[in-house]
This record gives sequence, structure tokens and C-alpha cells, in this order.
Amino acid sequence: MASESAEARSSVRMDELVSLCARRGFIFQSGELYGGINGFWDYGPLGVELKNNLKALWWQRVVRERDDVEGIDSAIVTHPRTWEASGHVQHFSDPMVDCRACKKRFRADQLADAGPCPAREGTSEHDFTPPREFNLMLKTFVGASEDAAAVAYLRAETCGSIFTDFKRVREASRQKIPFGIAQIGKAFRNEINPRNFTFRSREFEQAELEFFCHPKSTAEWFEHWKGERIRFHRELGFGEHQLRVIPHTTLAHYANAAVDLEFLFPFGWQEIEGVHDRGTFDLSQHAQFSSKDLSVLDEETRERFVPAVVETSMGVDRTALALLCNAYAEEKLEDGETRTVLRLPASVAPIKIAVLPLSKKLAEPALRIAGELRKSWNTFYDEAGNIGRRYRRQDEAGTPFCVTFDFESEADQQVTVRDRDSMTQQRVPLPGLAAHLRERLAS
Ligand code: GAP
Repeated sequence: MASESAEARSSVRMDELVSLCARRGFIFQSGELYGGINGFWDYGPLGVELKNNLKALWWQRVVRERDDVEGIDSAIVTHPRTWEASGHVQHFSDPMVDCRACKKRFRADQLADAGPCPAREGTSEHDFTPPREFNLMLKTFVGASEDAAAVAYLRAETCGSIFTDFKRVREASRQKIPFGIAQIGKAFRNEINPRNFTFRSREFEQAELEFFCHPKSTAEWFEHWKGERIRFHRELGFGEHQLRVIPHTTLAHYANAAVDLEFLFPFGWQEIEGVHDRGTFDLSQHAQFSSKDLSVLDEETRERFVPAVVETSMGVDRTALALLCNAYAEEKLEDGETRTVLRLPASVAPIKIAVLPLSKKLAEPALRIAGELRKSWNTFYDEAGNIGRRYRRQDEAGTPFCVTFDFESEADQQVTVRDRDSMTQQRVPLPGLAAHLRERLAS
């Protein structure tokens, strides 16, 4: 883990955030009923909306708003040769040690965090084996037999199939170099020590773009995509103090440049996205392993070349966690109470609007309003309990606006719109309600 000064920590406490996430159904441990399965997480009703909104925003910015990027959705179980060509079968490993006494396994570079050994009498020190390499790929068997020929891997990163699909997608979409292929999807790594909530998981999602260009223009495209990706994270509300760009000091032998985009989590600065200039490594490897020609012809210059790749690889779960950390606040109110509020950007907030009748007697017109708003936004309806408590529940869910229908509303055809962040309330005529909300949700 990167070292950082005591001041370089966010003010959110991880245990409070984890507790809110479970209580409000954002994220909780998978298999909780059976005691949980380490490194796997389930997203509940609010969490899935948050994550879907984040993915939709990424897809909009990276794929839909551009002529030079195509999307794909490839299989999770990938042809085993993919991972031989990429080097994962040989090299995608972490050094690990076992404790002979307590039988636990640790990453060799994280022994400082191992804690005391619970199984040795007279000493609390572990009895470690020498380090050995442990491959992080998750294996499965395809078909009826479980022999070596049936071994396949769950993809360790989503980009593998982007490279193997390159020729087909280029021909089908009639794209010319430079252009990119993007994908969002699950990736699997048998991490030795999953930790920090969803930050290091064994099953997670990536949003990756592989941008194919002439080998002489990678520096230019690297700068372009680095700028685009920083802009995306700024749009999510990550300012100078929450997001920094760290160049890699050591590079893979085939890489020309790489940076990490790091977010300031409660547990320190950590990577949420990587931008890499990977040169021609990927397509050259797959051309060699498949014995297929993956070069392209520049029709103007008649030059034939293997395209180089600039990659942007965002962890969806890590970015969702960064959003939650950045949004979480506890505030002392004038009446002495404390409110917990998630100040999520409206673009990713799970619920955009909550409709709350002041009394159950007003349910009918309030339900009509909710029905109308639902056509445009994810709208929540709640008629149960004290109005103050209902506002607090929406604050915790990160809902930007609450619409309250009260006893005057029937007569004056106006409702109250309450703002999550300032808690200010404004009377708005019913005929202009949707337009009013549209404007405020977009700002
Ligand atoms: N194709 C390049 C690649 O996969 P990476 O740095 O290994 O590069 C990219 O992963 C991103 O995927 C990381 O920046 C991180 O956000 C996310 N990621 C990687 N391992 C993860 C894990 N175990 N749990 C959650 N997210 C992870």
C-alpha cells in the first residue's frame, strides 16, 4: 500500500460507510446468510442503481459520444490461448507465503499486516514458508471432463477479448486506424488478501478502452486519453484534493508510458484507473499465438503495420467506492440532531426524486405525481412515518430532491421541492414540476 502522511487521509470512516452500505442496501457481503465469502460482494437495490448509472455515464462519454470507438460485450470464459499469449498463464502471479501453524496464506509483500499467529503456543509469531508464486487466474473446466484439455479461465481483465476480437470488430464496423474498442464487464482474480471493502475483490467490474493507433502516434493518443479520463473523474466530483495522477516509475518491457489515477480513500491514496501506452505488444502476441495476420494497411501511404494500443482501464467497483467515500457526510443540525447524507452527483444518484405525501390521506394525488415522474427518472414513493424521518432516509440514500404533497397542494396545485444538500425548500407549481426538476438535476 502506498505510504501517505496522516493528513493525506479522507475524513470518512470506513466502518461507518460499510455499515451504511449494508443497512441501506448499497453493498453487502455475498453469501452473508452462510457467513460470507471473502472477496465477493453483492450490490443491493441502491447499489445496483449507482453502479449502473456510473457504467452508463462511462459508456456515454467513451463510446456513444465518439465516432471512433465501438463497444463489445464478450464472454467471461475466454479461450485459454488468450491468456497464454498475454503472458497471464506464466506471469500473472503474486509471491505468497503460508503459515505452517495457522495455515493462513499471506502476500509476501504484505507480511507487516499479518497480525499475530493464533495457533502457536508461547509465541505469537507466524511460522512462514519461503515465498512462492501463486497464479491469480480463476480456473474452470469446460465440458464433461475435468482434465488439462478442458481447463479454461475466467477472464482476469476485460481487454483480452478486445484484442482477440480486434479484426472482426474493425471489419464489421468498417473502422480505420485510429479507433478504439470498449467493454464493461466482470473480471476475476484470485487475490490472496482481498481487503478494504470492495477495493480489492476477487470478482469485480472493469470499464476498459483499447485505442488502436499507429505506433508513431501513441504519445499523442496517450495524452489525449489521459486528459479525457481525468475530465471524467472531475465530472464525478473528484477535485484536486481527491484525485491525483501518478506516473509509473517502472514500466513493463513493452510499455512506453503509464499513469495511475489515484483517489484519496480513508485507507490512503489508491489506484482507481490506469492509462497505459502498451505499444504493439498485444496484437503482436495474439498474431503470433494464433498465426493470424493482425496488421492493417494504410490505404493512403500503403504502409502495412501492427497497430499499437493506448489503454484506459477503470475499476467500476473502485470508482463506485470512491463516489461513496466522497459523498458521505455526517452533519450536526441546528436542532442538535445529526444527519447522514450522501452528496452523490445527481448523474449517478440511485434515486433522483422521492415523492412524499404529508399524510396517507394524500396518497392518491401523490402517487399520480410519482407515476408521471417515473417516466423520466428513478422515482421513489414513501408515505409511511414522520416527514422529517422520511427526508433523513432519502438523505442517506443520496436522493437529490424530495417532492412533498401537503394539504394546500390540492387547492393551490403547488408542491414543495426539498434540496438534499442545502435542505432548502421551494414551492413549485405542479404544471412546471418536471421542467423544474430537469433543470436542477442537470446543473
Ligand atoms: N487491462 C489492464 C488492467 O487490468 P489493472 O491495473 O490490473 O490493469 C485495472 O486493473 C483496474 O481494475 C484498476 O485500476 C482497478 O481499478 C481495477 N482492479 C484491479 N484489480 C482489482 C481488484 N482485485 N478488485 C477491484 N478492482 C480491481
